[in-house]
Parts: sequence; structure tokens; C-alpha cells
Amino acid sequence: LARGATEPDLTGRHVVVSAGGTREPLDPVRFLGNRSSGKQGYALARTAAARGARVTLIAANTGLPDPAGVDVVPVGTAVQLREAVLKAASDADAVVMAAAVADFRPAAYAAGKIKKKDDQEPEPIVLVRNPDILAEISADRPRPGQVVVGFAAETDDVLANGRTKLARKGCDLLVVNEVGERKTFGAEENEAVVLGADGSETPVPYGPKEALAEMVWDLVVRRLV
Ligand code: CTP
Ligand code: CA
Repeated sequence: LARGATEPDLTGRHVVVSAGGTREPLDPVRFLGNRSSGKQGYALARTAAARGARVTLIAANTGLPDPAGVDVVPVGTAVQLREAVLKAASDADAVVMAAAVADFRPAAYAAGKIKKKDDQEPEPIVLVRNPDILAEISADRPRPGQVVVGFAAETDDVLANGRTKLARKGCDLLVVNEVGERKTFGAEENEAVVLGADGSETPVPYGPKEALAEMVWDLVVRRLV
């Protein structure tokens, strides 16, 4: 299972990776967002390129420099991320959803800045659901035999939650992280278990995000037709 130096085992393949976190605007100066740094997605893009793939990286608000030899498509919101992923996925061999997609967005966008008023409590923010991109791609693969990978950060019974989520999403692989102190958000290192729809369970020890990325590609390569 362990890999040595980079093998060009993704040569001739097109892979799509989403990274970062979506921002859902409330008004011209405010948004709902999350703490995803984008580092895991960028590690996936870099390692896939090193293994010979043509890589499209859909980057949501990462602020990270573009990796060499990778097509980067910047996006802001979940709706924009969906459009960009679906477009790039039409001829992709694999799609890896490492981005943290906001589950909800404000129902209304205020074209002007929301102002506070004296002696008046603020209006509640009404939210609506965003599309579930991973579930959509998994259910309706833009290309037959395409390998679809999701990421999930879980607490409590991490593996049971991961299994349930894998089944609900319908993807081939789900990378499950336990969130907690020093883990995941903004960190350089990561620890995970990769669950397969075939029942497989691949633990990845605490280490650089590159190592987890390489393991994801190892598991993807085996599933490519
Ligand atoms: N995802 C997606 N579209 C969404 C939400 C999530 O494509 N609207 C993808 C993420 O990119 C990730 C996977 O689904 O690869 C799991 O995300 P997660 O937030 O853990 O799943 P949810 O179904 O939103 O479940 P939860 O209620 O636990 O947030
Ligand atoms: Ca979610």
C-alpha cells in the first residue's frame, strides 16, 4: 500500500478537486462562512499533478497561491462552486470534494449594507438550503465509471457517522476526520480514516496533508476503469 517516489499513475486522467470554504453573502460587506483553510484540497491538487493528472482545482476563498501546473477556478458561494464543479466534472475521471460547502445561505441578499437602528433589535437571518453537490454528482455521474470522493469532519462516534454519511451521499470513498483540538482546521497535518462503499476502511495516521492526499489517490487509482 505504501508508495515510494511519485509514479505517473494518473497520466492521461482528468481529476477535479474542490478546496476551501464557501462564503454566503448577507450584504456587500458580510457573509456566512467557515474555517476551512483549503490546505487539504491544495495538497490533493499538487499530488495529483505530480502523479501526471490534468487537475482542475475549484478554489473557494482560500487565498492560497495557485499550485504549478493546475487549472484553478476561483469561486465564492456554494451555488458558484456547484456550477464550476459540474462543468469541470463532465469529462473527469475522478471528483474529490474537499471543500467545506455551507449547508445554508441567507434567503435574501441586501443590496445595501444592513444598518443598525437605535432602540431596535436586529431582524433574524432567514436561511435556505444550499444544493448538495456531492450527493448530486454521486447520484448522477457526469461520466460513467467516474470515482467520487467526499470529506467529512465528525465528532462523537466518528466511524458510525462516517458510514451513515457515505451511504447517504452515495460516493465511492469518504475521508473521515475527527475534529478536535489541533486537528483539521488550518493545521498542516491531518489524521483520517478512508471509508469505501465496498466496505473497506483505510486508516491514515497523523501526518502531513500530502500523505493523506497520496493515500486518497492510491485508493482512487484502484477504482478507475
Ligand atoms: N457537500 C457538498 N454540498 C453540500 C454540503 C456538503 O458537496 N451542500 C460535500 C462536502 O464537500 C464534503 C461532503 O459533502 O465532501 C460532506 O460534507 P458534510 O458537511 O460533512 O456533509 P453534510 O451532508 O452537510 O452533513 P452535516 O449535516 O454533518 O454537515
Ligand atoms: Ca455540512
